[in-house]
Amino acid sequence: MDMGALIARLPKVELHLHIEGTLEPEQLFAFAKRNGVALSHPSVEALRAAYDFHNLQSFLDLYYQGTAVLQTELDFYELTMAYLERVAAQGVVHTEIFFDPQSHTDRGIAFGTVIDGITRALTEGEQRLGVSSKLILCFLRHLDEDAAFATLRQAEPYLDRIVAVGLDSSEVGHPPSKFERVFSAAREHGLLTVAHAGEEGPPEYIWEALDLLKVSRIDHGVRCVEDANLVARLVEEKMPLTVCPLSNTRLCVFPDMRAHTLKQMLDAGLKATINSDDPAYFGGYMTENFTAVQEAFDFGPEELLALSLNSVEASFLDAGAKARITDSIRTAVHRD
Ligand code: ADE
Ligand code: ZN
Repeated sequence: MDMGALIARLPKVELHLHIEGTLEPEQLFAFAKRNGVALSHPSVEALRAAYDFHNLQSFLDLYYQGTAVLQTELDFYELTMAYLERVAAQGVVHTEIFFDPQSHTDRGIAFGTVIDGITRALTEGEQRLGVSSKLILCFLRHLDEDAAFATLRQAEPYLDRIVAVGLDSSEVGHPPSKFERVFSAAREHGLLTVAHAGEEGPPEYIWEALDLLKVSRIDHGVRCVEDANLVARLVEEKMPLTVCPLSNTRLCVFPDMRAHTLKQMLDAGLKATINSDDPAYFGGYMTENFTAVQEAFDFGPEELLALSLNSVEASFLDAGAKARITDSIRTAVHRD
């Protein structure tokens, strides 16, 4: 079977995507011009050349710098629409999108401006492109819990548009335990929870995400393989892990794709999924991530089917939508 063709036609579900991480340099420059924002790089090419990261923080420094060009409802709408158009062309049928409100509200942009622009595009994306979606509010873990509580209060009028809260930004030194109370408050509001854990941080952070934040998914989680008891727990609970292969290699979590633990994770029975994280910064969207792991591990139809079905199962879709996407994935895999 032609694996490239299979990847191309596979219906895809994305579960780990930061909308601010879809800001391509060309669009960043266009927004900067429209909004009169001065940039520290002279050209699109110079900016792209700076995307040479050695760890998570070296990426986050540029990522937060980039958010400065996002100012109006139209900016957030166009950013989100561009992402949806790109991934619709790659066969994405459902996406669960993170946004980082604090990276905008701390610059004086209203919470409503951010969420109105994003959700206007998500509604249009479902109607015009057939891409369904859910929205996840992430708290920035390098800031304190009071700031996260203030963000949760700002979100209160919009809770019908938000499915879950998440936790992102600089991981080491900012364990999930720092946010136990605000995650509890979010759950009392009826929100689900997820958290980045075990990307650069140790397995203990994954235990905390499970036990203290009561997460439905672990974002990244690749360092779980260092702790056999943790792997057993994750397998037992069928806990989904939203793995982001190109992100992990670009941020030097692994030296190259063949050194990635994805295959080891699947062989251990973990519910790993494939996602793009910040595709404008890491060299690819869903198709490029699937292609990278297929080539590194010589995955066949069985592995691609398993990864795809893991994503459907791990999504926050209802049973009917999950069944429809599952059928379409099985049809795509078994076509020839
Ligand atoms: N924010 C955007 N991308 C992130 C990542 N990969 N890890 C932590 N925080 C992030
Ligand atoms: Zn992420």
